[in-house]
Amino acid sequence: MGKTKTRYVCSACGSVSPKWLGKCPDCGGWNTFAEELEAKESVNPVARGSNQKPVKLRDITGLETLRYITGIGELDLVLGGGVVKGSVVLVGGEPGIGKSTIMLQIAGVLGNSGKRLIYISGEESAEQIKMRSDRLNLESGNIDLLTTSSFEDLLIYAEGGYDFIIVDSVQTVTSAELSSAGGTVGQVRHITYRLVELAKTRGITVFIVGQVTKDGAIAGPKVLEHLVDTVLYFEGDYARGLRLLRTVKNRFGSTGEVGLFEMSENGLKEVTGDLFISRGGEDTAGQAIAPVMEGSRTFLVEIQALASPTFFPIPKRSSNGFDINRLQMIAAVLEKRGGLGFFNADIYLNVAGGLRITETSADAAVAAALASSASNIILPADTVFIGEIGLSGAIRPVSNLSMRLNEAVRLGAKRLCTPAEIKSDKLEIIKITDIKALIKLINSWRAF
Ligand code: TYD
Ligand code: MG
Repeated sequence: MGKTKTRYVCSACGSVSPKWLGKCPDCGGWNTFAEELEAKESVNPVARGSNQKPVKLRDITGLETLRYITGIGELDLVLGGGVVKGSVVLVGGEPGIGKSTIMLQIAGVLGNSGKRLIYISGEESAEQIKMRSDRLNLESGNIDLLTTSSFEDLLIYAEGGYDFIIVDSVQTVTSAELSSAGGTVGQVRHITYRLVELAKTRGITVFIVGQVTKDGAIAGPKVLEHLVDTVLYFEGDYARGLRLLRTVKNRFGSTGEVGLFEMSENGLKEVTGDLFISRGGEDTAGQAIAPVMEGSRTFLVEIQALASPTFFPIPKRSSNGFDINRLQMIAAVLEKRGGLGFFNADIYLNVAGGLRITETSADAAVAAALASSASNIILPADTVFIGEIGLSGAIRPVSNLSMRLNEAVRLGAKRLCTPAEIKSDKLEIIKITDIKALIKLINSWRAF
């Protein structure tokens, strides 16, 4: 196959073999061998020697990174203020989450602003892509489209004076330089490596789409993360159409940023505001609001709890969007330190809007929602809870309090329950430093 020589390298220990092996003879790992080019043939300039000489660090100038603002605000935010010229951005996510949609929307806005770009798809036919572009109401005259699954085809056209290349997806293009099938670790790594080289030598900005499988990404974007400059992951709640674009790695900005979108009839729309609050007209017990941080942003999130009596000896604990072990701990603290009984109750916890909370700052709201459901007392809708709960029953302050407070004020909250020493002229602050005090407060809200 081809003129190039390839070899197989164990991705766990680096052992080399001329042919593929199921089990690594050195480290014993299974299915770890991936194909790559022989070092001699490698395009790696270091292997060939590239006449680079050391220079004094202070003599290096012209570091100004040129950024393009895509015009999609949430995307520019997660990229750290626009996309850097000559950088490689990997966009990962499960099938159907909206990767191709956002790529085409990006192509639309960049094309409109006079950038030369090519959208290369190995996944869909030209007609399918045209249908999507019509659905998105895109000005399609500015977008060059190439449908191919051959990486060599891609290279021929990609070098033709483009500012941007979009490859959708890295798993569906195959290089003839390697004999392994498309989508394997060796292939996706080789292709990504070549695209990075193209980006760096020509100053072309490259977006690469990577498919992630539900069961943890075989040959998925994980093996590419160290090669590229920026890694964004798309996740979300399919039912509600919510999509989160999360920065996992960024050489040109901070990680942990989150962009919010909603999948609509015609494409992804940016979202701001109180998407995570589901309260309609009638209030029920078991709902509490927490301001949680995602990256540099704060969201008010509604925690919903249901504690319902059960006659089974082992009651059920179920959680959606919040760590189940943490939920069990909070329930145990409420029992032991607060005197509430959950031994004969099933507990269900849900975070409205499909957000996954990874912070402990929402502990107090989780406890409040649980206590509210257990005692059937409706919490006032304009109250937010902030605090981390310890095994002793103490509620402790958390970081970024002023940002959380500002977001609560912005969305109309009137009352903040927190252990922190703060003052506010916009909110009534109720200082709550342990579980007992929290339960006492909730009992004081019993309707009379
Ligand atoms: P797609 O971008 O193809 O996902 P991916 O490339 O990540 O596999 O789109 C996913 C879903 O979005 C698909 O089920 C159809 C839906 N969709 C909309 O709801 N509205 C739209 O405007 C578009 C283009 C797609
Ligand atoms: Mg797609």
